[in-house]
Amino acid sequence: MELKNIVPWGRNMQEYMQIFNLTHDDIVNKKFLGCGDGPSSFNTEVDCEGGSVVSIDPLYKYSKSEIIARIDEVKDDILEQVEANKDSFVWKEIESVEALENVRVNAMLEFLMDYNEGKEEGRYIDASLPSLPFKDDTFDIALSSHLLFLYSEHLDLEFHIKSIEEMLRVAKEVRIFPIVTLKNNRSPHINEVIEYFKSLGFNTQIVKSKYEFQKGANEMLVLKRL
Ligand SMILES: C[S@@+](CC[C@H](N)C(=O)[O-])C[C@H]1O[C@@H](n2cnc3c(N)ncnc32)[C@H](O)[C@@H]1O
Repeated sequence: MELKNIVPWGRNMQEYMQIFNLTHDDIVNKKFLGCGDGPSSFNTEVDCEGGSVVSIDPLYKYSKSEIIARIDEVKDDILEQVEANKDSFVWKEIESVEALENVRVNAMLEFLMDYNEGKEEGRYIDASLPSLPFKDDTFDIALSSHLLFLYSEHLDLEFHIKSIEEMLRVAKEVRIFPIVTLKNNRSPHINEVIEYFKSLGFNTQIVKSKYEFQKGANEMLVLKRL
């Protein structure tokens, strides 16, 4: 994937914990795989807590300075779009567009400060769904925050099924948030994904999340091996 097609925008560990209903115990004890973590600070913050996350994203093909330049290129546009669509968001924990800018920029700065070291340590790996360069059962939980289902208009059902199959191969459990698209409609793939994995004998559940910023995006899909 070329850098010009990537929109780097990242959340922090506290947001990931709310999104996926993770406890501090989970953070320090579970082995996580983050699929499409981009410039979020989840990886570095968990690492600082003594926990374990490997993040994969095509963004990690690029150097720190290339990523900084790309963030600079897209940031104002994203914030303008949020401002223009203010009614589509819940302004509670994040109270304003300025506060949103602060939260996102801080998360991305934390990521950038850790990026080179994390790459050397194998915590940031240039890889893309639907293929994962890991052995079976490497992780406890594989996460997808704001990638699968959200981009259902760009990523078809087959991509979703292959990606989730691969995530379930390398991890015992998969959590995907949100289950709505960018237009706030429930993903057109969700029912078929659930039916498919149920038919293979996986436990699938839609679980309420503690996080809601995009209005209506407050549920995740959890899939587990029985
Ligand atoms: C909207 S961002 C979400 C970033 C982060 N997960 C968060 O919630 O803050 C989506 C990310 O998915 C990444 N991405 C796009 N296609 C991907 C693929 N096929 N496999 C893995 N990541 C991908 C993008 O590069 C981008 O960093």
